[in-house]
Amino acid sequence: MENIKLSIDKAFGFVSNESVAAYEKQVAESNAKLHQGTGLGNDFLGWLNLPSSIDEAHLSDIEATAITLRDNCEVVVVVGIGGSYLGAKAVIDALSNSFDWLQTERKAPVVVYAGQNIGEDYLYELQQLLKTKKFGIVSISKSGTTTEPALAFRLLKTQLEQQQGKAAAQKLIVAITDKSRGALRTLATQEGYKTFVIEDTIGGRFSVLSPVGLLPIAVAGFDVRQLVSGALKMEQVCGQDTPFAENPAAQYAAVRNALYQSGKKIEILVNYHPKLHFVSEWWKQLFGESEGKDGKGIFPAAVDFTTDLHSMGQWIQDGERTIFETVITVKESNYTTVFPTSEDNLDGLNFLAGKRVDEVNKMAELGTMLAHLDGGVPNLKIELPKLNEYYLGQMIYFFEKACGISGYLLGVNPFDQPGVEAYKKNMFALLEKPGFEAETKAIKARL
Ligand code: PA5
Repeated sequence: MENIKLSIDKAFGFVSNESVAAYEKQVAESNAKLHQGTGLGNDFLGWLNLPSSIDEAHLSDIEATAITLRDNCEVVVVVGIGGSYLGAKAVIDALSNSFDWLQTERKAPVVVYAGQNIGEDYLYELQQLLKTKKFGIVSISKSGTTTEPALAFRLLKTQLEQQQGKAAAQKLIVAITDKSRGALRTLATQEGYKTFVIEDTIGGRFSVLSPVGLLPIAVAGFDVRQLVSGALKMEQVCGQDTPFAENPAAQYAAVRNALYQSGKKIEILVNYHPKLHFVSEWWKQLFGESEGKDGKGIFPAAVDFTTDLHSMGQWIQDGERTIFETVITVKESNYTTVFPTSEDNLDGLNFLAGKRVDEVNKMAELGTMLAHLDGGVPNLKIELPKLNEYYLGQMIYFFEKACGISGYLLGVNPFDQPGVEAYKKNMFALLEKPGFEAETKAIKARL
């Protein structure tokens, strides 16, 4: 079976082969720090060997819980924010029919999301929709205290209990949280919900291969065993003993740091398949929250092509030259659509007749890459042989490993997120949360 493939040759007009190769020693040291647990944030390395440590009983438990929800729900609401929902949404969107919500003959419930914002209209509209649906809730919060999901969960739990009765509702709620701490754990114990544990050593943005990602993905009807098996393959390929030239995570970490040092401060993740939009959102969190600290870090941005070639294309081609692109390309589409011939050819498109739509997309991709290289934008490429669970699993682990190595190359702790607390403190002060009296006084004086 093939693996996902990284190509970095289109960076070499901008940074030299030697400057990337010069990272070899540092990359090996960073990789070793991860495996030996001697680097910063070494209490958050549970993701490193996660694919090889998931056992049969755990996977069966996830699958059995997913079946219960699938058998009893038309809609399952995944409640979570940041790392507690982005991985699941990335995989589910990438594998789902693009018009999933319009499908009438369904094999799986529709998975929708809440707790990833505090939009009153969003929550109102969701609650209206759920009034006529049999729904369940997967509530995910490692800390169990995050405001956005806690607020959404209270609303939805109340609604579910009103619609189904307390006893039935209890069977339709699953909580994924810390093994002993946090309000969600307390609530789950008291209410008797089915629960899964997020290990202390796995941070939110590295948790997609834990129940945080696997349960929602299984509920949506996808093969979590294949996902884990793809990740396991990359765990092996990107291991500590793999030589630099054969280790895609090591190479990606090296080349993006070489580009960063040469002044390329922004990395744009590019896709040519709209289903991958949320893969980019997941990737943005993974790298943004891991590297953006201590006044350092590549800014992770993303575009969906060719759509955004008609909006951001101008900036990328011609704006400030501080960017590089990493293109996720899918070698083989899952379906075939051939462009038809037209007798009168009024649209002038007969030169495309007989070609697959994907061939046109691939030429757009190639043409764009060459144009952007001419415009001064280095290009990296990650090729997935196909869009399926196995290769998405490979891609997830590849990015996680590269992120850990890259963070250590940059000299930051890739596994904390101290900056996320600042807005929470202000929000609680403004909302006059008990315990925040001094902060409330201070913030009100600023207004
Ligand atoms: O990566 C992270 O740690 C964060 O994005 C968290 O996942 C996010 O803040 C949600 O936290 P929690 O799962 O504790 O509700």
